[in-house]
Amino acid sequence: MAEACCHGISDEKYQKLDEIINQYKGKPGGLIPVLHQAQLIFGYLPKEVQIRVAEGLDIPLSEVYGVITFYSFFSQKPRGKYTIGVCLGTACYVKGAAEIVEALEENLGIKVGDTTENGEFSLMVTRCLGACGLAPVLTIGEDVYGRLTPDKIPEIIKAYENR
Ligand code: FES
Repeated sequence: MAEACCHGISDEKYQKLDEIINQYKGKPGGLIPVLHQAQLIFGYLPKEVQIRVAEGLDIPLSEVYGVITFYSFFSQKPRGKYTIGVCLGTACYVKGAAEIVEALEENLGIKVGDTTENGEFSLMVTRCLGACGLAPVLTIGEDVYGRLTPDKIPEIIKAYENR
């Protein structure tokens, strides 16, 4: 049985991470794919994982941290069951994406980048999703919602609660 270590993260997950690090070690451009895989394994990228990646790839921790904070895809906090991504690309922004973000923050009681206390929803912003004709757009997991107005938000959220 895998023993728990490092803030409850299992050894097994770290073993998987080490295997991936070894695959990319010494290869240029390995950091992003390693972080991508690490996020799939752990669900997010806590400090311990960032340190392991930096040491494993033999690169400065500041570089790892820099990449994680630059790409909104990477998360340093555990994500909720559903990740809501609001597009803040130009077309969506022009059509009122900021008001959609506000409505979500108000409804969920959290800010962008946070997760609700019950662990149900995380709120993120994204770049253009390639669905500009439907602007403003948001995604919940694989589902896409377009032509949004703030008053549609409560109904959309409700559909995911207690699923
Ligand atoms: S700008 Fe939002 S989908 Fe393109």
